[in-house]
Amino acid sequence: MPHVNKTTNLDAEISSTDLGELPADVVTDHNHKLYIETVGCQMNMLDSELVVADLRKRGYELTQNIKEAETILFNTCSVREHAEHKIYSSLGRLRYGARKNPRKVIGVMGCMAQKDQKLIFQKAPQVDFVVGTGQLAQVSELIEKARIHHSKNERSRELAVGLGRKDGKHAEITNSFQSYDPLRDPEMRPSPYQAFVRIMIGCDKFCSYCVVPSTRGPEQSRSPREILSEVKVLANQGVKEVTLLGQTVNSYKHTQDGKLFRLSDLLYLIHDIEGIDRIKFVTSYPKDMTNDLLEAIRDLPKATRYLHVPLQHGCNDVLKYMKRGYTVEDYREMMQRINEILPGCSVSSDFIVGHPGETEESHQKSLESIREFRFKNSFIFKYSERPGTKAAERFPDEISDKIKKRRNNEMLKVQNEISEEDNAEFIGKQLAVLVEGPSKSAQKAADASSDTLAEQLVGRSNCDRIVVFDGSLRLAGSIAHVEIFDVTPTTLIGSIVTKEYQHQLGSSLPILQ
Ligand code: 5AD
Ligand code: SF4
Repeated sequence: MPHVNKTTNLDAEISSTDLGELPADVVTDHNHKLYIETVGCQMNMLDSELVVADLRKRGYELTQNIKEAETILFNTCSVREHAEHKIYSSLGRLRYGARKNPRKVIGVMGCMAQKDQKLIFQKAPQVDFVVGTGQLAQVSELIEKARIHHSKNERSRELAVGLGRKDGKHAEITNSFQSYDPLRDPEMRPSPYQAFVRIMIGCDKFCSYCVVPSTRGPEQSRSPREILSEVKVLANQGVKEVTLLGQTVNSYKHTQDGKLFRLSDLLYLIHDIEGIDRIKFVTSYPKDMTNDLLEAIRDLPKATRYLHVPLQHGCNDVLKYMKRGYTVEDYREMMQRINEILPGCSVSSDFIVGHPGETEESHQKSLESIREFRFKNSFIFKYSERPGTKAAERFPDEISDKIKKRRNNEMLKVQNEISEEDNAEFIGKQLAVLVEGPSKSAQKAADASSDTLAEQLVGRSNCDRIVVFDGSLRLAGSIAHVEIFDVTPTTLIGSIVTKEYQHQLGSSLPILQ
């Protein structure tokens, strides 16, 4: 598909430059060491993985040492101000090194790139290019263009971003955000057995506090055909678990060959792919949690009994300020359906504390909602005013940081109590655990002693609980059966029941939670 917005160089027009005719040393005479810093959500982790995979094909090699890298990328997040500060201070630290070494190329990608655009060059003049969430396919070209500028002693200020939500016709805006999903390099995944698969980009919900509809553009679902061929490739590479990603993943809708496909249809199709043992999806939007989806999870053994459906607040007044489009009663009705159709299903939530309009009484209602809905876990965020959002336009950010912090801690305390109580219910039970590899502490110990056979393993149950237990590293990538004997608010601790391991959920062992 054509890109509506061509890359623009803000100082000089070099769009006619043919990269094929460049002096060889300009493009190749740098050290090909690539450093990338990623902040933000799983969508950003996936974007970084795909960009790195593309650059590796072009001879780049990842390094953890920013000083030795001559190509430096920041994949940024704008959801809260704090995440942006972090990136600007990392950029600040690079100012001197970039001036000293003209071969150093610095790029800013992701949500902050889309949101701040030219402002990034003003705040951090050492940046060579800024590339939005919908232009990631252009990263390698932008790196090379930056090197051309440097070789001519020119300043490089390449900008490739999508259109703003009011800057054109809907189709033009949509076209300016391209999903970037090349087929994968197996080495680039965080675990060989797990992979994220994007099924949609963007968001059209426009919650009043949230910057995502402008940084990630209009909601667009990928075709089932593309998604299936990607999952098949991943399965052939040994992936056992796919996590389908979308900002409101259960709003997925795509018409292919005259037929409408929803997320439930996609689950059925992916379920048939040999080699895939588990299918998860995040993040869901409460109003779109339809019964066909819950029934698909019930009927498909590979679909995990886990849903991430953020409530965001427990008070209807605040939900209204947030423009979330539902009430606590609607959410309760959804939870009843989940519990009826999917008994034992875990649900996790996100909450914002200190949103404009939140009173002490409304905060108490959020605490109450954690007790009522018994979330497996909750991600709790202090409200951060985001320029350009409806909330920033309409309401002053009047709640002090001290109060936000206190409310945040109170939410965490209640959630921890609930999580620990519910985790304790698993003591004495057996769970089917997809083994991911050594636990964090085992990994640290192994790194220190260069011992590769770490003893403590970590994995997840079908209801997304983290489970640690002792076992052989050979179990990684298989389903192990673990009996739980102890718990913390975040982890179940168990011991392995059978050392036999299976590669298919459908084999003789019973499917446990
Ligand atoms: N301030 C604080 N938290 C926010 N989130 C989104 N926007 C903001 C904001 N302006 C939270 C929501 C969302 C999660 C990814 O980030 O809870 O679900
Ligand atoms: Fe942001 Fe709301 Fe869209 Fe989630 S649903 S990405 S909170 S606008």
